[in-house]
Amino acid sequence: MCNLNDKLSIKKRRTFAIISHPDAGKTTVTEKMLLLGKVLHTSGTVKARGSGKYATSDWMQIEKDRGISITTSVMQFQYKNILVNLLDTPGHQDFSEDTYRILTAVDCCLLVIDAAKGIEERTKKLMNVSRLHQTPVITFVNKLDRDSLEPIEILDQIEKELKLFCVPITWPISCGNRFKGVIHLDEKLIYLYNKSEKTKIFKVDLHDFKKSLLDKYISLDLTLNIDEELKLISHVYSNFNKKNFLKNIITPVFFGSALSNFGIDHILESLIKWAPSPTYRISNKRKVKPEEKKFTGFVFKIQANMDLKHHDRIAFIRIVSGKYIPGMKLRHIRIKKNIIVSDAFYFIAGDRFYIKTAYPGDIIGIHNHGTIKIGDSFTEGEDINFIGIPSFAPEIFRRIFLKNPLKQKQLKKGLMQLSEEGTIQVFYPFNNNYLILGAIGILQFDVVIQRLKIEYKIDVIYEKINVKFARWIKSNDQKNIDIFVNKNKSYLALDSFNNLTYLAPNKANLEIAMSRYVDINFNSIREQ
Ligand code: G4P
Repeated sequence: MCNLNDKLSIKKRRTFAIISHPDAGKTTVTEKMLLLGKVLHTSGTVKARGSGKYATSDWMQIEKDRGISITTSVMQFQYKNILVNLLDTPGHQDFSEDTYRILTAVDCCLLVIDAAKGIEERTKKLMNVSRLHQTPVITFVNKLDRDSLEPIEILDQIEKELKLFCVPITWPISCGNRFKGVIHLDEKLIYLYNKSEKTKIFKVDLHDFKKSLLDKYISLDLTLNIDEELKLISHVYSNFNKKNFLKNIITPVFFGSALSNFGIDHILESLIKWAPSPTYRISNKRKVKPEEKKFTGFVFKIQANMDLKHHDRIAFIRIVSGKYIPGMKLRHIRIKKNIIVSDAFYFIAGDRFYIKTAYPGDIIGIHNHGTIKIGDSFTEGEDINFIGIPSFAPEIFRRIFLKNPLKQKQLKKGLMQLSEEGTIQVFYPFNNNYLILGAIGILQFDVVIQRLKIEYKIDVIYEKINVKFARWIKSNDQKNIDIFVNKNKSYLALDSFNNLTYLAPNKANLEIAMSRYVDINFNSIREQ
């Protein structure tokens, strides 16, 4: 076990990610948090879309061209006495696989919902993933300064569509032009919203709101409305229960307007009060606890060419136990080699900061000379592998070809590296020499083409191919696999990591195969 000081450092950490449907306000919330954490000093630094000025994290050309954030950066800031690690997730849904993997590296999620739109498609998918890891979720309903759905309706949608019970912690007073602020139900305080003035705060009576005598700020009709709503919510929603929150059964809900930096401090307060400090992770042999003395960690993201001049590739490691100190010897379990790590760093957007000490919950970047893969584990010697880092079956497929066929070797090398990073999935069919790329979103293909051109100096083109589904094939009995392979060669391929994959041209084909071979598992999620 680690010493008391180290234990304290672990207890003082929170590692979380923000998830949302694009445009719900993730970037704006991030920016306001960084302002509150005193990392940023002016608004508009994280993203100034359409203005020709880009976020420091949007350094890749394709991000600049399209004004989207593809890559992930890790931001660290202090709020009160807590050190917060905030993992940025790609804004565009075409890069959702990256987001899924990032969720394996956090202990809590902040879900941002646009108050006018309620639950959107992407939110549902992301929530299914956070459920996979039982990650607790705090919810922020954003943009109350605009016309919104009724708050009760939003909570209904969360309960129905995300299967999470809501516990409102703040409650909005109207919306749009009539938005007056929020009542903090725990603190029994009202925070009045005024764009141009500092927020005014008053004590309120939750049982009889009229008694709070706020008629100078809130009209009579609104006051009566709130009175009724407060009575209703006290009957409908239960109180916050930390155990149920940690089990991902309930979500505390906050309302506000990120653009006006209104309500963000409430979320941060809840994060430091309720979100767990760094939690254990499961390895193939045992549960690894953060307080253990020896260093362990796993790679959840690889990013190539963050600095084009140096052609470097960075592996991002979530520390699970022990602590990082420069110069320490770490064992790279998969390839059974020891390395000395003396220059681990973290990024704030494009800038690197070398790390002196890092604790469980922290994310460190280390140089990768082509040997590290997503899902790899590092320890101080113990032979364990962390599990649970998912790969999702791609949903769109393309065949890729070289403009100059002599560069086949470079193409294979480039695709191998890009698939190790999780940028794209590559399939090698049994029956022909095609190279089939699989992605979740179409933009991934554009990124691959651009990166092959810039980083590997090869020109490629892609075309549609008759594949609609990919499923990883598993069975408890090798005999079943052998029979299946024999009969289905024309639909089979190996992925970059030599996993047997069934590529179906349509749903009917997949369903027939699944009904014919009941002893075979057709998996749409694969662990690294
Ligand atoms: P995202 O990262 O989830 O994609 O969302 P982002 O923060 O970029 O916000 C999407 C749009 O919504 C932005 O406007 C942003 O200014 C706006 N927005 C975010 N929070 C609020 C809020 O509380 N109230 C209001 N009224 N708007 C909000 P945009 O016009 O698309 O971009 P920009 O030119 O303002 O950057």
